[in-house]
Amino acid sequence: MVEKIKTCVFISGTGSNLESIIKSSRDYIFPIKIKLIISNNINARGIKLAKKYSIPYKFFSSKNKKIFERNSLFEIKKRKIKFLCLAGFMKKLSSNFIKSFGYKIINIHPSLLPKYKGLNTYKRVLKNKEKYSGCTVHFVTPKLDSGKIILQKKVLINKNDTEKSLQRKILLQEHKLYPQSIISIFR
Ligand code: GRF
Repeated sequence: MVEKIKTCVFISGTGSNLESIIKSSRDYIFPIKIKLIISNNINARGIKLAKKYSIPYKFFSSKNKKIFERNSLFEIKKRKIKFLCLAGFMKKLSSNFIKSFGYKIINIHPSLLPKYKGLNTYKRVLKNKEKYSGCTVHFVTPKLDSGKIILQKKVLINKNDTEKSLQRKILLQEHKLYPQSIISIFR
């Protein structure tokens, strides 16, 4: 059997992308195995998923980013983790952390990068009357939402789309795009 890459997922909220990665990783040919979930939000639904799927998890507050990163790195190194996925993780990682980890880090963002980096993407997209939006999986660098793009999926915007409906549509695509991106990196 091929050895799977030991992976950590960082979350802050609902964890629906986390769940899609967990489900994909049950396939024996999927390249990674989630060995650890780290949340910076004690109330994240993603923590419930960690329990549901019996995956080790840690909560570290990120009020002090330095301490958050130090604690996370300690756990990551202890478990020989060699790949990090950010899935709805709402904090920017420092260049020190990225360097010290030393392996690939990827993130999912709900827009067609390089357009609409940062927060409130749906609102801004609708305000600008865009025809399309979508989602992007990209490598993480110290610059927010700016690393090399791995895969993107375009979504058509309807006249009567609201922030909520657009978010729902894009999220559905995210759940496919994230696992596909992981496969494409390690192919
Ligand atoms: C997703 O829209 C993702 O693109 C963004 O945050 C949201 C997280 O959703 N970075 P979930 O926690 O994976 O459900």
